[in-house]
Amino acid sequence: MIALRSPKELDKMRKSGSVLAAIVEKLVDMVQEGITTAELDAEAERLMKDNGAVSASKGYHGYPAHICTSVNEEIVHGIPGPRKLKPGDIVSIDVCVQVDSFFADMARTVPVGEIDGEKKQLVATAREALEAGIKQAMPGNRLYDISHAIEETARRSGFSVVRRFTGHGIGREMHEEPKIPNYGKAHTGPKILQGMTFAIEAMLNAGTHRAVILDDDWTAVTNDERPSAHFEDTIAVTREGPEVFTCLRNKP
Ligand code: MF3
Ligand code: CO
Repeated sequence: MIALRSPKELDKMRKSGSVLAAIVEKLVDMVQEGITTAELDAEAERLMKDNGAVSASKGYHGYPAHICTSVNEEIVHGIPGPRKLKPGDIVSIDVCVQVDSFFADMARTVPVGEIDGEKKQLVATAREALEAGIKQAMPGNRLYDISHAIEETARRSGFSVVRRFTGHGIGREMHEEPKIPNYGKAHTGPKILQGMTFAIEAMLNAGTHRAVILDDDWTAVTNDERPSAHFEDTIAVTREGPEVFTCLRNKP
């Protein structure tokens, strides 16, 4: 069953989304040469506390931090630590919070200094793929229209989509039905209805889609150690189409 949210519930999710977007925006602005991912996590903890938000990640199946920071070949679920970011890196910042009983989930991949052409194109294409996926979140479309749009955007640029992890429904839980894969056949899947709320996650790899989990039991990295990028937004399906709850004032 895919939950349908009332206007009142959507209002609460709008609030969760805007609180989260403000937090992510500040974290994105902090990314620069020499900062550690643990410093980003500590600032996230402070920002959450100051804004009535609780990390959905901390303690989730024992996850030890408030946010996920995945660098270069790390796909998702990188654990913040003493690693210093250096020029040429890309870092995905993935944050999920609960505000007043509703969840919002968001990720952005940010360049550190000057990055190479492949990473530039990968990050831009992942951003574009999320946008293309969101556009399909129209009442009357099918769920895998979203998936197909993400996959096609990646394929056109010669990138692969992550298969091991998916987007998801979101609302009163971080992860609700349905799973939203980054690949699929257009015009198939459950019908998309007004009031559904999704976390759509475009996860693109420069090389293979295959992933391995590191010894920390969390960090997912690409098999071929080529880079990966991740853009995620929390959205609602309205009568007019998608409404993004996790908008940054300045893109991405
Ligand atoms: N934010 C992730 C998602 O998009 C989930 C993070 S769970 C964690 O679904 F424990 F790894 F943080
Ligand atoms: Co998510």
